[in-house]
Amino acid sequence: MLTGKEEIKLPGFEVIDEREKKAISNIFDEGKVFFAHGFDTKRKHFHVREFEKKLKAVFSPQMADALCVSSGTAAIKVALKALGVGKGDHVITQAFNFIATVEAIVDTGASVIFTDVDDTLNMNPKSLERLITKKTKAIIPVHMLGVPADMISINRVSKKNKIPVIEDACEAIGAKVARKFVGGLSEFGVFSFDFGKMITTGEGGALFSKRKSDGKNARMYHDHGHKNIPNLPRGLDRAGLIGFNYRMTEISGAFGKVQLQKFPRILKESRKRYRTLERYIRHNEIKFRDINPGNEPNYDTFVISIENKKIRDRVIGVLNKTGFGTKNLPDAFNWHCAYFWEHIDKKIRNKEVTNCYNRLIKCIAIPILVSRPIIDYKNIASYINECSE
Ligand SMILES: Cc1ncc(COP(=O)(O)O)c(C=O)c1O
Repeated sequence: MLTGKEEIKLPGFEVIDEREKKAISNIFDEGKVFFAHGFDTKRKHFHVREFEKKLKAVFSPQMADALCVSSGTAAIKVALKALGVGKGDHVITQAFNFIATVEAIVDTGASVIFTDVDDTLNMNPKSLERLITKKTKAIIPVHMLGVPADMISINRVSKKNKIPVIEDACEAIGAKVARKFVGGLSEFGVFSFDFGKMITTGEGGALFSKRKSDGKNARMYHDHGHKNIPNLPRGLDRAGLIGFNYRMTEISGAFGKVQLQKFPRILKESRKRYRTLERYIRHNEIKFRDINPGNEPNYDTFVISIENKKIRDRVIGVLNKTGFGTKNLPDAFNWHCAYFWEHIDKKIRNKEVTNCYNRLIKCIAIPILVSRPIIDYKNIASYINECSE
């Protein structure tokens, strides 16, 4: 028997309770400042700044800066702008992706180039190497559905060609490569805190920068070019570059601090459910997604692959009937595979993109929900094992 539950993606919002509510209502008692900067005499806290410090301490103390922004999409755009990417430049990313990453690239005026994916379903480093040209200005591997891309090979290609990497870790908060969290392994790392992510602020994102100068540019760009010169009233501050507004609000900052405290539990509970599926799914036709040695997922999704269409459809049927759903493989497949994005490029269905599509069409993503008891995962595994032609 399964305990039915509503549609859910990643666990952050499943654990929202009175503590987040209190964190927001506290802002009213602390002087009602909902803006991340200035108003120094009216406020008791700088919640966004405090959240940034905590994120850096937890996920990437080795990086020069952690900057909170209004979304993960904004974080990618801010990273690209900090690098000066624009018209005429190429940015390479992978064909299994989310549309946001591509939108951020296109919004800078640059062109997007897609790699194929490897057995991890993330950027194929060989495909990356083949696609690099003089026009390539940035590489964006995406740790899709919580599994790290082959960062060792990707960083090697990046170093050899002197092209910076922006790790899109929006779906992979908590995943690790050689014991280090993703998002802190290259020049930039990006998190999303939207409502479907591992930790949430409703909407929000973070950008980690390795180089001080990139961090400085990113900070200025996300805030109308403000240099935020200390002890200078904001009105007298100077602009260091032409920027935009991608600031995070204090509400999100305060909310995020509470979610971050809950993160170890989210990760631990997700891991238990993921390991249950890994242990109990035993089916000759089912292959598990590859995870490279030394890498650790964030356990938010369990991806399987089934060649036989009849069996695949039966498994999808079981997951839908029991309320698990299949997340973005195949639910929302068209938002996650470049094959469907002819509105971006009419000739998008090239060899790399088509190869990726042909791999993904066989995959099923089983969401890990911390609100569902572990026994549900044991039971769903046995239902899946029973699926035959
Ligand atoms: C891989 C990936 N990149 C970028 C984003 C964009 O994040 P946001 O929704 O915070 O803009 C998402 C969000 O779903 C994502 O999954």
